[in-house]
Amino acid sequence: MRFSGKIAVVTGAASGIGRATAVRLAREGHHVALLDLDVAGLATTCARIQEAGGRAHAFTVDLCDPLEAGAVTREIAVTAGAPLVLVNVAGTGVAATVLETSDEDGNRVLTVNLTGPFFTPRATMSLMPDRRGGVIVNIASVAGQVGMARRAAYCAPRAGLVGLTRAIAVDHAREGIRRVAICPGTVETEWIGKILANAPDPVAAREAMAERQPDGRMGSPEEIAAMVAFVAGPDGRFVNGAALVLDGGMTAA
Ligand SMILES: NC(=O)c1ccc[n+]([C@@H]2O[C@H](COP(=O)([O-])OP(=O)(O)OC[C@H]3O[C@@H](n4cnc5c(N)ncnc54)[C@H](O)[C@@H]3O)[C@@H](O)[C@H]2O)c1
Repeated sequence: MRFSGKIAVVTGAASGIGRATAVRLAREGHHVALLDLDVAGLATTCARIQEAGGRAHAFTVDLCDPLEAGAVTREIAVTAGAPLVLVNVAGTGVAATVLETSDEDGNRVLTVNLTGPFFTPRATMSLMPDRRGGVIVNIASVAGQVGMARRAAYCAPRAGLVGLTRAIAVDHAREGIRRVAICPGTVETEWIGKILANAPDPVAAREAMAERQPDGRMGSPEEIAAMVAFVAGPDGRFVNGAALVLDGGMTAA
């Protein structure tokens, strides 16, 4: 129970990396506010935390809407307390080149993956107690480090999120607020499960996904959550403005 009683907000908490992060932070003593669009997924994460003796509150919100995100953040402060940790995990993607991407898909992916993480922290930062000791962790992607084939609308906001992370770190370090990006390679989540299920040969597609990492396997959501816990905790207090790559060697090749 390293962080007993601190409030952590986790977006995208209904699934995958967000769920694993929420479970991990709750296990370490955080009171976790779970944000997502997916009501059923939120209930599952909330139950998992509470059954293990942790504390969690679920908030249904579309993070594309800055007003909605701001209202939920204030509600969290009233019902649970001012947040000290914010982990932006919610994200979405589309497999297409820039020419193949529809206007609708392009707007959706850019908004969820960059506009949301731009506005959510503004509400949270203004509530961070005395603005000291606050940590914002952005889950970006290796797609923010290198170009990936047929991921134009996804690579752009993931790279933007790394830039936003650095800018906020520079502006707010002296106020005691840190901001860090984590850039995972392929992580075996519900998202990847859906991509594989729709592939013509799901078994071959899974092998190909694993082989993208020199380690020969995909990462687990828990491995990403462990890095979030490190960065958000006292041992990570010298980490600021960094883009930490966790990719089984994918971008080293
Ligand atoms: N899985 C991977 O291989 C991988 C690799 C690198 C980076 N990432 C990043 O990690 C994050 C989580 O990915 P995952 O694989 O766990 O995905 P996932 O699909 O399992 O979970 C994403 C969650 O975000 C939520 N969400 C999407 N749009 C939202 C919105 N507008 N408002 C509120 N909630 C919304 C979804 O409902 C879902 O619960 C994403 O940002 C993704 O870009 C994933």
